Amino acid sequence: MLITPLLLLCVAICLSPTASVIDDSKANFQPQVTLRTWEQAIAMAKSFIAQLTLQEKCHLTAGVRGTCAGNIASLPRVNFSGVCLLDTPSGVGDGVLYSTAFVSGIHIAATWDRDLFYRRAVAIGKEFRGKGVHYALGPMVNIDRNARHGRNWEGFGSDPYLSGENAFFYTQGVQDQGVVATAKHYICNEQDTHRSGVMKDANDAVVYSANLDDKTMHEIYLWPFASSVVAGTGSIMCSANEINDTRACQNNKTQNGLLKGELGYMGNILTDWMGSKSTVDPVLSGLDIDMPGNDEYMGYTLVPFVQNGSIPESRIDDMATRIIAPYYLVGQDQDYPTVDLDRDTMENNYIINREASRAGMILLKNVNNILPLNSSVNTNIYIYGQAAGQTNCGLEQTSWNANCGGALYQGGGSGFVRPAYAIDPLTALMQKGRDDRLQIRYITNQNDFVAINSTFRDRGFQNAKCLVFISAWSEEGIDRTDLYAFDNGEQLVLTVAQNCRQTIVLVNSVSQLNLERWVDHPNVVGVLWTGMPGSEYGPAVVDILFGDYNPGGKLVFSLAKNDSDFGTDISPIGDSNYTEGVFLDYRHFDKYNITPRYYFGYGLSYTNFSFDKLQISQANDDDKNSPVSLYKQRRMRPYNNFGHSGLYDPVYTITFTIKNTGNYYGSEVAQLYLGFPVQAQEPLKILRGFERVYLEPNESREVTLVLSQKDISYWNVVNQQWAIASGTHTVWISISANNADIKLQGSFSV
Ligand SMILES: *[C@@H]1O[C@H](CO)[C@@H](O)[C@H](O)[C@H]1NC(C)=O
Ligand SMILES: *[C@@H]1O[C@H](CO)[C@@H](O)[C@H](O)[C@H]1NC(C)=O
Ligand SMILES: *[C@@H]1O[C@H](CO)[C@@H](O)[C@H](O)[C@H]1NC(C)=O
Ligand SMILES: *[C@@H]1O[C@H](CO)[C@@H](O)[C@H](O)[C@H]1NC(C)=O
Ligand SMILES: *[C@@H]1O[C@H](CO)[C@@H](O)[C@H](O)[C@H]1NC(C)=O
Ligand SMILES: *[C@@H]1O[C@H](CO)[C@@H](O)[C@H](O)[C@H]1NC(C)=O
Ligand SMILES: *[C@@H]1O[C@H](CO)[C@@H](O)[C@H](O)[C@H]1NC(C)=O
Ligand SMILES: *[C@@H]1O[C@H](CO)[C@@H](O)[C@H](O)[C@H]1NC(C)=O
Ligand SMILES: *[C@@H]1O[C@H](CO)[C@@H](O)[C@H](O)[C@H]1NC(C)=O
Ligand SMILES: *[C@@H]1O[C@H](CO)[C@@H](O)[C@H](O)[C@H]1NC(C)=O
Repeated sequence: MLITPLLLLCVAICLSPTASVIDDSKANFQPQVTLRTWEQAIAMAKSFIAQLTLQEKCHLTAGVRGTCAGNIASLPRVNFSGVCLLDTPSGVGDGVLYSTAFVSGIHIAATWDRDLFYRRAVAIGKEFRGKGVHYALGPMVNIDRNARHGRNWEGFGSDPYLSGENAFFYTQGVQDQGVVATAKHYICNEQDTHRSGVMKDANDAVVYSANLDDKTMHEIYLWPFASSVVAGTGSIMCSANEINDTRACQNNKTQNGLLKGELGYMGNILTDWMGSKSTVDPVLSGLDIDMPGNDEYMGYTLVPFVQNGSIPESRIDDMATRIIAPYYLVGQDQDYPTVDLDRDTMENNYIINREASRAGMILLKNVNNILPLNSSVNTNIYIYGQAAGQTNCGLEQTSWNANCGGALYQGGGSGFVRPAYAIDPLTALMQKGRDDRLQIRYITNQNDFVAINSTFRDRGFQNAKCLVFISAWSEEGIDRTDLYAFDNGEQLVLTVAQNCRQTIVLVNSVSQLNLERWVDHPNVVGVLWTGMPGSEYGPAVVDILFGDYNPGGKLVFSLAKNDSDFGTDISPIGDSNYTEGVFLDYRHFDKYNITPRYYFGYGLSYTNFSFDKLQISQANDDDKNSPVSLYKQRRMRPYNNFGHSGLYDPVYTITFTIKNTGNYYGSEVAQLYLGFPVQAQEPLKILRGFERVYLEPNESREVTLVLSQKDISYWNVVNQQWAIASGTHTVWISISANNADIKLQGSFSV
C-alpha cells in the first residue's frame, strides 16, 4: 500500500518538466560539526590570545617541526595542542597511508557540476579530519594561463568564473567537515620556471615577476581567490614568485591592499614552503605565518623587533588572532580527532571518486557513434600503450621517471597523493572481459613495434576495436617542454590507426595536449579525454566505453591547433608580462578569430539536447523555493563572508528549458556567456554561469541560472570598484565557447 503513493510522488517530482534543476539538498544543510561566524571566531580568538605572552604569540607565527608538513606550535601552558597542515588539494598527501587519490582539480572542474565539486570536497575533508589534520593545503586556484605550466593539473582550468565556482564549493565542502581550506598560491603563480630563488633585484632575474595591470588582476587572477574569501576560507597561501617585482609574501599591495583590504579577508596568510625570505617587510605587508618555519625569519625572531618598535605589537596580536580564529571558525576546539596520519578514513569514498572520475571525462570525437561499445558485438578488443597499464614503479610517482610509465592517476610534486590502491584501465578492462566474454589482446610496451605490428596479423583483428592509451605527465617545480604525449604516443596512435579502422584514443593528460598529428586520421573514430582521473580511473573509463555511463564532461581549456595560438607562454627569463590582459584562452581566440581544434567548454555525449524558451528577468526571491532563494541558501554557511557591498546579490535570472532528444540518459552543461557594452572593454564573451543538467530520454526541464551583481560588472580602474556598464548586455546560452554552438540568445539593458 505504501508503494503507490511513493511512486506517484516520484513521478510528480522527478519527472515534472518544470522541476527546478537547483538541488536544494544543500540548501537544507545541517552541520555535523560546530561551525561559527567570523565574528564569533574572532571574539573567541581574541580572548584566547589575551592570555598569551608576547613570546607565545610570536611563537605561533612560524611553523615548528612536527608530524605534519606544516605545524603551528602547541602551547601546553594554555592547553592548545597545535595545528597540523598537510598537502594536497585532491586528497591527503605527503605519503601517508590509507589515502584516496581523488580526481585532480583539472578533472573535477571538467565535470562542470557544482554538486560534484561539493561532494568530492566533503569526501576529501572527511579524510583530512579523520586523520586529525586541521588544514588541507588546497584548493589550488591559479589560472591555466600557460598550457605548459607543470601545476595546471592541480587547478581548475583557464576561466576565472569556473575556477571561482570550484574554489567556492571546494572551500565549503572541506570546511563543512571542520577542516580549514587554504586557497593557493596567492598570486599569479602561473608558471614554475623561476618560481622561486633569491630576490631578483639582489641577484639578477632568478625569481620571475608576474607583471600585470589592475583590470586583469581583478577580472582574472584575483577572481577565484575572491570566491574563496566569500566562501569563508580560513587560510590563503602566498606564492614564491614576485608581482610587479615584489615578492608575493611581502607584497603590501596584494596582501594588505587587495586581500585583507578590498576583499575584507579575515583569515591568515601563510607562505608557500620557503616562500618568504625576510622578517620585517613580510610582516608589515600582511604575512601572518612563515612555513615550514625552520628558517627563523619569524616566530621568536620577531620578539626583539617588537621590543624596539620595528613591528607594532598590535600587528602581532592581529597575526595571532588570524592564526587562531579559523580554529574556532570550523569548531576545531570541539572533539577534533588526534593526529594520526595513517588512520584509515577512506570509508567508501571510492564511490564518489568513481562518479567524479567518469563525470569529468570528455568525449571529443565519436564518428558514427562508435562509442559506446556494445560488448555483445564488439568482442575483439586490442589495447595499446604504456598508459593503459600499471606503472613499473609502484604508486610512488611524486616525480616523473621515464622508466615508470603506466596510467596516471594524478600529476606530481607536493600535490601528488600516493593512493592506497589504484585501478588502471587494463585491469578494469580484463575484468570486463571476463564478465562479458570479450577477446582481449594488449601491448603496453609502446616502443615494441615488432609486437605491435604482429597484432595486426591476428586472426581476431579483422573487426577489432583498437584502444590506444596515451598520456602526458607534469609536476610541480618543472614546466612541460612541449604539449606532446609521453614516449612518442603520437607515433603509437598513427601506427595503430594505419592498421585499425576503428581506433579509439584515450588521452590521460595533465592539461592541454596538441592532438594535431593524429586527430584527423580517418581511422581515429573516437577520442576520449580521460584527464587526471584518480584511483578509480579503470572502472570509470570502462563505464564510459561500454555505455554504463554517458560522458558529459567539458573542456576547461581550449585545445589549440598550434601551441603558439594560445598567445601566452612560460617566460624563460625574469619577467612574465601578462600583456594579453583579460584576453586569455577563448577570449583570445575570439579576439583574433582563431579556430582551435576543440573549444573551451566542448564535449560530446551519447545523446543530444535541445534548448528553448529563454527568459531573462530581474532576480526575485520573494518565494523561499524560488531559484534565487535556493541559489542563496545553497551558498549560505555560518562562516562565509559575502561582505556588505551587495556584490554577490542576485540581480538577474536566466531561465530556459533543455530537452534530451536522444536515446540515452545523460547530461548537458548549459553555459552562459555574457557580452558587455563597449565601455566595459571586455572580450566578445565571458563565461558567467553554467549548470550541468541530467535528463532521461525525452525529458525536459526548466533551468534557471542566476547572475550576481559581480557577474555583470567590470573592474573600473579609475574608480577602483566593480561597475556595471550602461547599455545592452547580451546573454548567450551555449554548449561550448564556439559561437556556432550557441543555442539561445537574449539581452538585458542597464
Ligand atoms: C584541554 O583541552 C582538551 C581538549 O583539547 C580538553 O578535553 C580538556 O578539558 C582541556 N583541559 C583544560 C584544563 O582546559
Ligand atoms: C602592477 O603594475 C601595474 C602597472 O603599473 C598596475 O596597474 C598594477 O596595479 C600593479 N599591481 C600590483 C599588484 O602592484
Ligand atoms: C600597505 O597597504 C595598505 C592598504 O592598502 C596601505 O594603507 C598602506 O599605506 C600600505 N603601506 C605601504 C608602506 O605602502
Ligand atoms: C630592532 O631589533 C632587530 C633585532 O635585534 C634589529 O635587527 C633591528 O636593527 C632593530 N631595529 C632598530 C630600529 O633598532
Ligand atoms: C547490443 O547488440 C545486440 C546484438 O546486436 C543488440 O541486441 C543490443 O540491443 C545491443 N545493445 C545496445 C545497448 O545497443
Ligand atoms: C610496423 O609497421 C609499420 C607499417 O604499418 C612500418 O612502417 C614499421 O616499419 C613496422 N615496424 C616494425 C618494427 O616492423
Ligand atoms: C605554428 O605557429 C608558428 C608561429 O606562428 C608557425 O611558425 C608554425 O608554422 C605553425 N605550425 C603549424 C603546424 O601550423
Ligand atoms: C616586460 O615588461 C617590461 C616593462 O615594459 C620590459 O622592460 C621587459 O622587457 C618585458 N619583459 C619581457 C620578457 O617581455
Ligand atoms: C546529435 O546531433 C547531431 C546533429 O544532428 C548528429 O550528427 C549526432 O549524430 C547526434 N548524436 C547523437 C548521439 O544522437
Ligand atoms: C520520445 O518521444 C517520442 C515522441 O513522443 C516517442 O516517439 C519516443 O518513443 C520517445 N522516446 C523515448 C526513449 O521515450
